[in-house]
Amino acid sequence: MRVLAVSGSLRRDSYNTQLLRAAAEAAPEGIEVELWDGVRDLPLYDQDVDGAEPPESVRRLREDWASADAILFATPEYNGSVPGVLKNAVDWGSRPRDGAALRNKTVAVVGASTGQFGAMWAQADLRKILGTAGARVVGDEVPVTRAHEKFDAEGRLLEAELFERLRGVVETLTAEAAPVRVAA
Ligand SMILES: Cc1cc2nc3c(=O)[nH]c(=O)nc-3n(C[C@H](O)[C@H](O)[C@H](O)COP(=O)(O)O)c2cc1C
Repeated sequence: MRVLAVSGSLRRDSYNTQLLRAAAEAAPEGIEVELWDGVRDLPLYDQDVDGAEPPESVRRLREDWASADAILFATPEYNGSVPGVLKNAVDWGSRPRDGAALRNKTVAVVGASTGQFGAMWAQADLRKILGTAGARVVGDEVPVTRAHEKFDAEGRLLEAELFERLRGVVETLTAEAAPVRVAA
């Protein structure tokens, strides 16, 4: 089973991207968690451009997201919500409405911030946005607070409990995705 991992941060040393790498490590046997790096390449959503021949980066998003068994998102919090780059990617993934890459896709959301609340608002907003786009949002939120204290120099998670919570999210995500995959 293949899970795509999409980070809402473009930052090279992003804690959210590190969190997704930790999720790949925590994933049970047989589950492949693959970082998806196409967020940076997407143009700003423009309905005029979203016709029969969308840009190559958008085609890639739609093919990759549609063919994944499930998607795990990690979002930072920018001014109390989801970073624009991630919202933009979700908007592209939500169209065309019939047969959109996100429609009925099983997804989960985690998040890290350097503040005290671990991107809780951003995670709540992202769950709402993904649900509106037609995705099946499963699993608990994983708020990683004070993210700058939670990873070692190699980007590994320092807290075993957090690592286990991450594993739990991947397990729930793939368990929930399995029946849909069989049905499809
Ligand atoms: C524009 C901007 C707005 C931010 N707003 C918030 C915020 O509302 N809440 C919060 O906890 N952290 C906020 N932060 C701090 C981020 O949580 C922190 O930069 C985090 O490391 C970003 O995630 P990343 O490491 O994956 O890039 C903000 C950072 C930026 C650059």
